[in-house]
Amino acid sequence: MFIANNNFTLLPESYLFSEVGRRIRDFKQVNPERDIIRMDIGDVSLPLPEVVVRAMTEAINEMGKSETFHGYGPEHGYSFLRDKIAATDYALRGLTHISADDIFISDGAKSDLGNLGNLFGRNLKIAIPDPGYPVYSDANIMDGNGGEEHNGLFSNIIKINSDTQNNFLPIVPEGAVDVIYLCFPNNPTGVGITRSQLTQWVEYALQHKSLIIYDSAYEAYVRNPATVRSIYEIDGAEKVAIEIRSFSKTAGFTGVRCGYTVVPESLDFNFSDGSKANLNKMWNRRQCTKFNGVGYIVQKGAEALYTAEGQQAIKSNTDYYMNNARMLREALIKKGMIVYGGEDSPYVWFRTEKGSDSWDMFDALLHQTGISSTPGIGFGKQGAGFLRLTGFNTTEMTRKAISRLNESLIDL
Ligand code: MLT
Repeated sequence: MFIANNNFTLLPESYLFSEVGRRIRDFKQVNPERDIIRMDIGDVSLPLPEVVVRAMTEAINEMGKSETFHGYGPEHGYSFLRDKIAATDYALRGLTHISADDIFISDGAKSDLGNLGNLFGRNLKIAIPDPGYPVYSDANIMDGNGGEEHNGLFSNIIKINSDTQNNFLPIVPEGAVDVIYLCFPNNPTGVGITRSQLTQWVEYALQHKSLIIYDSAYEAYVRNPATVRSIYEIDGAEKVAIEIRSFSKTAGFTGVRCGYTVVPESLDFNFSDGSKANLNKMWNRRQCTKFNGVGYIVQKGAEALYTAEGQQAIKSNTDYYMNNARMLREALIKKGMIVYGGEDSPYVWFRTEKGSDSWDMFDALLHQTGISSTPGIGFGKQGAGFLRLTGFNTTEMTRKAISRLNESLIDL
């Protein structure tokens, strides 16, 4: 008799962005004449850069001829892409200790964030930021890593809270934890982290032999030189941290699917019997077993981002979204709101005076202005009373949203 995975009964009924999408569809059904300005999920509005389209078109043509056809690709991803990532995203920024052998091409940040749990032993203490991207906790609960559940709290999941008191920078825990999820520039709050702040986490992980999973999907949005772009800027991080990156938000790959995960060869931990566990080898084993890689055409498109034209396209795309985020940030500050993000990140996070239930505010904003947001509570208890808006819509729609906010009588 088949028995289904009980852990699913412990999850919130639906995934955050599915619930957001459902409410928007319901609203649209009842109000078909209203045009909605989407500022909820971080989906981009600019198309693929031309240099990517050209490279993908060439790759499609190659795939159509027997002399240049490609079947299964190498397990880590093609070296033409991994070499360029290592050279451009790391060596060129002084991070020569990260090499192509440390890099695995992925189909985006979300899948790897969800799948890395395959490397975890049993009964680990897992520190998850609150507010935080819901995949960290949902994936661990699904995998049975949560431990005993009581009133929605899990014995093995330690929430690392952040709030206005600490400017939404999670504080290093007092006791020992085994796995730590960090995301900077942060989703949802948009705040970046400085080298000295991140050094505290790396030192903690070195001291406690903890693994840090560093979600760096928004690094291309960093503008302040004091804000960290890669955790490997911190001494010793290559012994404790996995870093996850994505081309989704930098080059319009949300629907194409490509990113990469850095699992350094120097990432040595232990199995339960004390023998050596090398996470790079384990992740390679995992990927060979459960993943057949990202398509050649897609990896060729990603490679084109490492040409001068591609790098320029990333800069101009991210500048465009950052300008939208800055406009949103300034408009909300003018309205007297307490606002975070929008400086090193495309996300703008603000507290509504009304406060305690973000879903009420989500509904009120949608109904009164036609603007869809993401409710802070969807990212954890600490998000209650906050809303997140994104700079990922077009500048025209962002301006329209700002005038709607200014004209409406909505009491945020
Ligand atoms: C977000 O809106 O938080 C992200 O777009 C979600 C994602 O990248 O999966």
